[in-house]
Amino acid sequence: MKAIHCFAPSLSIDVVSVTEAGAIAASRYAGSGNRMGADRSAVAAMRKHLKKCPFQGRIAIGEGLRDAAPALRFHEKTGNGCGPSVDIAVDPLEGTRICANGKPGSLSIMALAQKGQLLHAPDMFMLKIAVGPEAKGVIDLNQPLSRNVAFISKAKKCRIKDLRFTILNRPYNQEFIEVLHRMGVLIKVVDDGDVIGAISTSWHLNNRNDCLFGIGGAPEGVLAATALHCLGGEIQGKLWYRNPDEIRRARNAGIKDLKKIYKHEELARGPVIFCATGVTSGPFLKGVEHYPTKIVTHSVVMSSHDRAINYIDTEHDRPRVSRRAKG
Ligand code: FBP
Repeated sequence: MKAIHCFAPSLSIDVVSVTEAGAIAASRYAGSGNRMGADRSAVAAMRKHLKKCPFQGRIAIGEGLRDAAPALRFHEKTGNGCGPSVDIAVDPLEGTRICANGKPGSLSIMALAQKGQLLHAPDMFMLKIAVGPEAKGVIDLNQPLSRNVAFISKAKKCRIKDLRFTILNRPYNQEFIEVLHRMGVLIKVVDDGDVIGAISTSWHLNNRNDCLFGIGGAPEGVLAATALHCLGGEIQGKLWYRNPDEIRRARNAGIKDLKKIYKHEELARGPVIFCATGVTSGPFLKGVEHYPTKIVTHSVVMSSHDRAINYIDTEHDRPRVSRRAKG
């Protein structure tokens, strides 16, 4: 296979159109309380737009199985069949609960790499550690959390009690929260959204974040790996199984070493494009704006080969609702 050193710049625009479609569809459910409807709608819109993209794509990792939600299926083929062979990681609606509750910070996300350059795994959980450029190269998921805290504090030349970590508020992360509290690390415990938690280690949003640690979704881990590949940060991950069924699924997907710790380059490598569109407004991106005659979306697209970050605001014509003439 011929190596691709970078993707055609126009491909970024095709990818943005996919996350824009997902975000617009999901945004109609913002505040509706209908998580399933929001997810289903985002998935359907993305699937439709993906089919128009100039590549031969397959879904390397996506969501759905973990929580029986609608999804683009693992190894589903997509694209218009022309152009480069690519692997796709996708989360049509990152933060279904956030969107359904009308809260800030839900996104529609997709990333793309050359075929074989993203981790292929069914939707499951992953233990992750992510840091920004200053602590790149010092983290090691083989080591206990306490040692990683020490590594990061040394790399960042700051005291442990000045470090700030982000962690998902889940029962399975409780032991990590306790370790961090005992060590005096400040923690932001978030209800949802660990892709942003990882990105914010390398991109200053509202608050400083030195590390994302803990268990969350594996697709989110791969998506974060593509973004950090563009931003110069680092992430490592280890699949985390809740039950024998998930172990069987991982084996069926060809995962031989169930305890493997995936280095950053085993999650995502080579040229990648990462793209996200805001669904509900948050610290990272503004959400979809609905006006009487148009819809406005706000996206970010990053590519690893030139480390370029582009913000794309798009005005979409609002589809006209046809009305029957009176009389
Ligand atoms: P979705 O809304 O896309 O499912 O993800 C939200 C999220 O908080 C992710 O950021 C995180 O990785 C995942 O959920 C954790 O899964 P779960 O909510 O099942 O514990």
